[in-house]
Amino acid sequence: MKSRKRLNVAMIGYGFMGRAHSNAFHQVGHFFESSYDLRLKLICGRNQPQLKSMATQWGWEEVAGDWEAVVERKDVDVIDICTPNNLHAPIAISAAKAGKIVLCEKPLAISVEESEGMANAAQNVPTLVWFNYRRVPAIALAKKFVDEGRLGQIYHYRATYLQSWGAEPAAADAWRFKQSEAGSGAMGDLLSHSIDLALMLNGPVDEVSALVRTFAPGREVDDAVLMLARFANGSVGSFEATRYAIGCQNRNYLEIHGAKGAIRFDLEDLNRLHVFDASDAKEVHGSHNVLVTGPGHPYTSHFWPPGHILGYEHTFILTMADFLQSLEKDETFHANFQDAVKVQRVLHAVEESSQTGSWASTAMQFANS
Ligand SMILES: NC(=O)c1ccc[n+]([C@@H]2O[C@H](COP(=O)([O-])OP(=O)(O)OC[C@H]3O[C@@H](n4cnc5c(N)ncnc54)[C@H](O)[C@@H]3O)[C@@H](O)[C@H]2O)c1
Repeated sequence: MKSRKRLNVAMIGYGFMGRAHSNAFHQVGHFFESSYDLRLKLICGRNQPQLKSMATQWGWEEVAGDWEAVVERKDVDVIDICTPNNLHAPIAISAAKAGKIVLCEKPLAISVEESEGMANAAQNVPTLVWFNYRRVPAIALAKKFVDEGRLGQIYHYRATYLQSWGAEPAAADAWRFKQSEAGSGAMGDLLSHSIDLALMLNGPVDEVSALVRTFAPGREVDDAVLMLARFANGSVGSFEATRYAIGCQNRNYLEIHGAKGAIRFDLEDLNRLHVFDASDAKEVHGSHNVLVTGPGHPYTSHFWPPGHILGYEHTFILTMADFLQSLEKDETFHANFQDAVKVQRVLHAVEESSQTGSWASTAMQFANS
């Protein structure tokens, strides 16, 4: 084993993502060799008893209450932001100015301007945005097929991200429904993931036309968003993200149709990629239901023998593994802050189109940068 450089991590926020990231920080060193040794130095939040219990359960060394003091600490190398969206920008900008490596949850920010400010401030430090679905092995395999040209010219890109909890009264006072804390609803929360995957798999979006709807009376943020997209490669896209898809828990789905084949993925069956190859003999035309657990599939050899499935948590472990490798090789990691700014620009065009009723160009947003 090579000698390892210690990286002290401070995590701000300790809810759902706090647990997912804590697990990834612990597990990454078990499954991937790295010259970095991640230390769970401290977690920061507002409720001290809950923080202490979280620190004990997940092995964090210290707790702290004030993120502004945390980002200045000399013994902290990495700031991981797991707070509501409105706090991403102030924490990330302060952390980057203090020279820290910055990891941030999605959506990167609540506006294009904010996200650009974050990317500018972080130009000289490594950044990571937790668009974790990029690292689902089946999605990495889809990316490989697209890059190898196995789908041929792409005609259609279709994505849906369907949840149903927006209709539950118990959720009514969550920060996710407050404009000031979340910025938007299904748009920033769900559509951001679909857009990030689309930009990765199918390239830039030129123009969008969008419909946004809030079903709950008086709610400040959108419950559902539909988006049509014109991609730069000539293909067309349709997207739907909603918190009102009764019967669906977390159906993050995508489908791509090209001249030579098609692929289909559903997070609710995340070890599978459906692959249609138009060059198969006509008598056996139909999708291959591929169990993406190896041999020869992306990432899978780091975990279990083929056929032994992976889960949601592995997407975070793999994100961290790739990030540590990029640090080691001094390479640029994706998705970084610049990548996430591109997502914000598409989201901005969605908002603009939904307000004007016309197509909105993402190029107009790019013009200012
Ligand atoms: N990558 C993904 O798939 C994914 C999934 C869920 C959430 N998220 C994102 O992660 C972020 C957090 O979401 P969550 O589901 O973990 O939320 P959560 O409500 O479970 O946790 C939010 C945490 O932030 C803390 N917090 C709030 N204000 C704070 C402050 N001033 N100082 C310190 N801590 C503060 C809260 O105490 C809580 O621990 C959001 O940006 C969300 O969009 C990403």
